[in-house]
Amino acid sequence: MAKVFIADHPLIQHKLSILRDVKTGTKEFRALIQEITMLLCYEATRDLPLEDKTVETPMGMCNAKVISGKKLAFVPILRAGTGMLDGVLELVPSAKVGHIGLYRDHETLKPVTYYCKLPADINEREVFVIDPMLATGGSAIDAIDKVKEFKPKSIKFMGIIAAPEGIEALKTAHPDVDIFVSALDEKLNEVGYIVPGLGDAGDRIFGTK
Ligand code: PRP
Ligand code: URA
Repeated sequence: MAKVFIADHPLIQHKLSILRDVKTGTKEFRALIQEITMLLCYEATRDLPLEDKTVETPMGMCNAKVISGKKLAFVPILRAGTGMLDGVLELVPSAKVGHIGLYRDHETLKPVTYYCKLPADINEREVFVIDPMLATGGSAIDAIDKVKEFKPKSIKFMGIIAAPEGIEALKTAHPDVDIFVSALDEKLNEVGYIVPGLGDAGDRIFGTK
C-alpha cells in the first residue's frame, strides 16, 4: 500500500504559510516552491540505497557511502510542476527530466494530455512525478498511468498541497506509488480547488493572473 508522507518539519510549515498568503508575489512564490521542494525531496529520496566506496581524505583512507548506481528521473506535470524542477535538480543535478503536459478541463475537471516526452532510458530509472497541487488527483493519476507504460523501476509522487480526495484517489489508482506532500488540506471546493490551498498554482508561479 502507498506510503503517504505529510511534512511536519517547521521549516516547511513556515515557508508554506508564506506561500499560501494571497499577498505573496510571484518572485517570492517561485523561490518558496523551490525551497519547499528541496526539503521534500530530502525526505522522498531517504530510502535510496547506498553502496560502499573507498575515498582518500587528506588524513588517509575512508570507507564512505555513495548512492548505489541509482538513476533518477523527475517528471513535472506541465505547467505548474515545472515550478518544482529547480528545487529537485539542485539536489540531484544528474537526474534526467521528462515532461507531461496535462491541464484540467475546467468544466469536466478531467485531465487532458497534450504533451509527453520522457527520457529514453526511463525503464532504468526511479521516477518522481512532481506537481504542486493534488486536488481531485486526476492529473497525477493520468500522468502516472502514462509513465507506467514505459515501465520505470519505481514511481513516487511529490507535491506541495493535497486534498483528502486527491490522496484517496491516487492511493486507490496507484497503490504502489508513495506520496510526499507538505500539507494535507481540508477539502475541495465545488470547482475542484483545494481549500484553504494557495489558489491556482500555475497562475501564481507564472504570474498569469
Ligand atoms: C493544476 C495543478 C495540477 C492539477 C491538479 O494544474 O498543477 O496539475 O491542477 O488538479 P487535479 O488533482 O484535480 O487533477 P492545471 O490543470 O490548473 O494546469 P496548469 O498547471 O497549466 O495551471
Ligand atoms: N490546481 C490548482 O492550481 N489549485 C488548486 O487548488 C487545485 C488545482
